[in-house]
Amino acid sequence: MTGPLSFEFNGTPLDARSGQSLAAALTEAGERHFRDTDAGGARGIFCGMGVCQDCLVTIDGTPNQRACMTPVTPGMVVTRQAARPPLTAPPASPKQATKLTPEVLIIGGGAAGLEAGIAARAAGTKVLLLDERKVSGGQYFKQSALPDATPLDPQQADGAALVAKARQAGVEIQSGVEVWGAFDGPVIMASSATDVFAITPGKLIVATGAYERPAMIPGWTLPGVMTAGAAQTLWRSYRVPPGKRVAVFGNGPLNAQVALELCQGGAEIALLAEAAPAGWHRPISAAQMALRDPALAWKGAKMLSALSRHGVPVRWNTLPLEIAETSEGLRVRYAQRGKVSDVTVDAVCLNFGFQPQNEILRLLGAEMSYDARFDQLRPTRSAEMATSVADVYAIGDCCGLGGAPAAAVEGRIAGRAAVGGGPATAADEAELTRHRRFQDALWQVYAAEVPKVENAPPETLICRCEEVSYGTLSAALATGAEDIGAVKRATRIGMGRCQGRYCAPALAGILAHRHGRALEDLSYFAPRVPIKPVDIGTLVATEPLLDDSSGDG
Ligand SMILES: Cc1cc2nc3c(=O)[nH]c(=O)nc-3n(C[C@H](O)[C@H](O)[C@H](O)COP(=O)(O)OP(=O)(O)OC[C@H]3O[C@@H](n4cnc5c(N)ncnc54)[C@H](O)[C@@H]3O)c2cc1C
Ligand code: FES
Repeated sequence: MTGPLSFEFNGTPLDARSGQSLAAALTEAGERHFRDTDAGGARGIFCGMGVCQDCLVTIDGTPNQRACMTPVTPGMVVTRQAARPPLTAPPASPKQATKLTPEVLIIGGGAAGLEAGIAARAAGTKVLLLDERKVSGGQYFKQSALPDATPLDPQQADGAALVAKARQAGVEIQSGVEVWGAFDGPVIMASSATDVFAITPGKLIVATGAYERPAMIPGWTLPGVMTAGAAQTLWRSYRVPPGKRVAVFGNGPLNAQVALELCQGGAEIALLAEAAPAGWHRPISAAQMALRDPALAWKGAKMLSALSRHGVPVRWNTLPLEIAETSEGLRVRYAQRGKVSDVTVDAVCLNFGFQPQNEILRLLGAEMSYDARFDQLRPTRSAEMATSVADVYAIGDCCGLGGAPAAAVEGRIAGRAAVGGGPATAADEAELTRHRRFQDALWQVYAAEVPKVENAPPETLICRCEEVSYGTLSAALATGAEDIGAVKRATRIGMGRCQGRYCAPALAGILAHRHGRALEDLSYFAPRVPIKPVDIGTLVATEPLLDDSSGDG
């Protein structure tokens, strides 16, 4: 179906464009407040990718639906969700339960997963690729979900071509299927709106990408404050800017790219604030970056010049301090080399780096190591991208930030190795080394102090889900809670729906600093099944899959 479609939010009739997510349609209609919290707070879109669980609304009487992951359908009746919505009965028609046994299962349809699928298909192997989003392509290629949209730029056009190439190669791509469980075997549990699957693949390739690291400052949970990637998805996938007047704060090149894209999408960028000093203050790293990938370095330089042509004020060495809701909009106080200023906008974007989405790997028991430079856990891998778990490979940004070009090469290597095609070719190895060296120089250029939780005022929320403030956390630490488990039990930090994806790395850092321990001695909260929210109807439908007598799908 194409063209406008009508739905209702809190009794008001609204229009959406076919293919739009509910979050995008509500944003376009000027609605930002999607749910209330126990402590009287308001929440809206934050991550835009199904991770934070802050965009929950009630749809046709069923609570806890993620607006960012749900396409609008005609006649949908949506209400802002109360802090404690009433319990509802499981759906009358349970989901179809199916067992699948593909030779190769790939989780994630970004640059890494798609390239892995194409490489594995070259050997004629049956390859199933699952992606939770309605359109494949992942974060870099970020495809439009609107049926009639033409690609915005070469990045989006290249993504469309790669998805088409994977389909042509015979990769079976199932979109809108979310993996929520992983058990020894490996056995993978996944579900869509209509089906639930238990999948026992011959080989498993995990390509689940990354999510963004925010700045935990007062006001970071307010509606209208979101990650840079969420704002990018609103525009690139659904053609809705996050606001009319936007400020972008962060560290790394994604922020400049998003600022430019939103500008081109019609938003006024009131400020682009980067934590690092300007690249020309680090000429050696900048030159290394340019030598290692002249095309990408040139793209970055052109981006900054385009921002200047659009009149976007760019401030280097600048960090956000707090965000407050005022009658004029969201007022952000920020500091540039000690000088404090403010800017008032209707949307604030934050991105201070990335965290790998490695929950599936950790559930399967893959060996991980701590990368102190990027402050993240990475799986141990062989040159063929095999993890420490038999028949399980890991590629792309779920193994630590590497960028889309490196993710694509890792995909080719893993796809070939998984079907017995042998080790990486010399050409692939050389290309991967070049991309990794580029990333290394890039992050030397962008090296910066980012906002530290320890500097936050006590009222700052650290755990968005359970609304645990830094003050509450400090009080628990003062009573002697020394490890993550003890702090969790004392405060409920990390016990909410997002399973500690934002607060766990922050808490691990705080504990390491307080007790003078190396972060590698601390693990984050152990992931638990389900790693993504599933309703009781899905769990009930899973039951026949646990019975060996049910037939294969
Ligand atoms: C929000 C965001 C925006 C970005 N934007 C840019 C950009 O504009 N330019 C740039 O150069 N780099 C960007 N990056 C970095 C770049 O996207 C990555 O380097 C690149 O996409 C890595 O490719 P990948 O295949 O490893 O992961 P991704 O492209 O992230 O693909 C991972 C895929 O896995 C799927 N997935 C994850 N978990 C599950 C699950 N449980 N079940 C089913 N499917 C799942 C996701 O939906 C996604 O499609 C961005 C990163 C993020 C997180
Ligand atoms: S905005 Fe929907 S889950 Fe985060």
